[in-house]
Amino acid sequence: MQLSELKNNLLTSTLSEAKLVQKIHTLSQNFTQSRERISDYLTDPALISAYTYFYLPTNMAKMPVILDKLGKRIEDFNDYEIIDYGCGPGTYLMALLANGIKAKRLVGVETAELMRKQAQKLFQTFHPEENIELLSAYKEQENSIDQKKLLIFSHSANEMSEIEVKEIIKKINPKEVLFIEPGTKSFFTKMKSLRTHLIENTFHALYPCPSNHPCPMSDQDWCHQILKVSLDDDVKRLCQLVKRDRLYQPVSLFYFAQSSDRGDQGLKRVVQVFEETKFSLEFNLCESSATTNQLTHLQLMKKNLDKRDIKDLRQVYAGDQLGYTIDKKLPNGVVRGALGAIKK
Ligand SMILES: C[S@@+](CC[C@H](N)C(=O)[O-])C[C@H]1O[C@@H](n2cnc3c(N)ncnc32)[C@H](O)[C@@H]1O
Repeated sequence: MQLSELKNNLLTSTLSEAKLVQKIHTLSQNFTQSRERISDYLTDPALISAYTYFYLPTNMAKMPVILDKLGKRIEDFNDYEIIDYGCGPGTYLMALLANGIKAKRLVGVETAELMRKQAQKLFQTFHPEENIELLSAYKEQENSIDQKKLLIFSHSANEMSEIEVKEIIKKINPKEVLFIEPGTKSFFTKMKSLRTHLIENTFHALYPCPSNHPCPMSDQDWCHQILKVSLDDDVKRLCQLVKRDRLYQPVSLFYFAQSSDRGDQGLKRVVQVFEETKFSLEFNLCESSATTNQLTHLQLMKKNLDKRDIKDLRQVYAGDQLGYTIDKKLPNGVVRGALGAIKK
């Protein structure tokens, strides 16, 4: 989808790009600074158009990276009912379709009428052949009691109370739940509590956690990831106009499933990248032991790394994985190690 085509299909398609950029600034300020005004944009067609113009293409770009991080292929979800709860203009349903999903049922739940209208307009233009249901509240399909469901919260659980999120999960009873939410400390506080709730209710925390054991993050820190996405040139140009970097996006990506299949456990999740020193590259890794998840401060000495590894390690972000073997445990608790594999 080209940005010019998207512009022609905005709720208010007559806005100039300069006006849209101005409105994107307003939105962005409200999202980051005026939490009490976070929902104001939902009743203003110009702000909905601005949201769609900027956030739809830049959020859609996360989908292939997310699948990769979860170790999934799009086909893995082909026999699912997929529910995007708080779908806005249909961002992640559009992203799934752009990546070739052939789901049993695609549902967008969205309370804001204007957002549903915007989503409808986009689906009619870009996916006229698909039967996508846009609902103001979730409704079960008849005879679908055994249907596997993937429930996605995409920048929407952030706007809901914790109780609301729990009730939605209980009502839908999904096999899997995926959170793609802002990578902020305030969202992580909610996420940590939801994680405990989901684990108590038979879910397995498959990403980013190494096990269901308690989260080792202190109250001062928060677990989030950086997704490096690919953007088309026209979207990159828009990002420059808006003066926002959307190539490296901080997110709270959390994935829970009723099945406990964790795949390869050899690599450890990077939860923090420390500032590079003259002699070393250092990372905080989340690892599972018998009874708990714990953080390991890994120090990789540059003298033991070749140039290519150093270059690769400089491109490692929170959410990626590293393998290592222990050389030495230092008195300050830091583990000096030898690098194994890197998985971004
Ligand atoms: C920031 S937008 C995200 C839109 C889209 N998911 C995306 O990632 O681009 C949040 C959306 O969640 C919707 N929302 C908030 N609470 C909701 C609820 N309880 N039920 C359904 N939608 C809700 C809002 O109306 C808004 O459109």
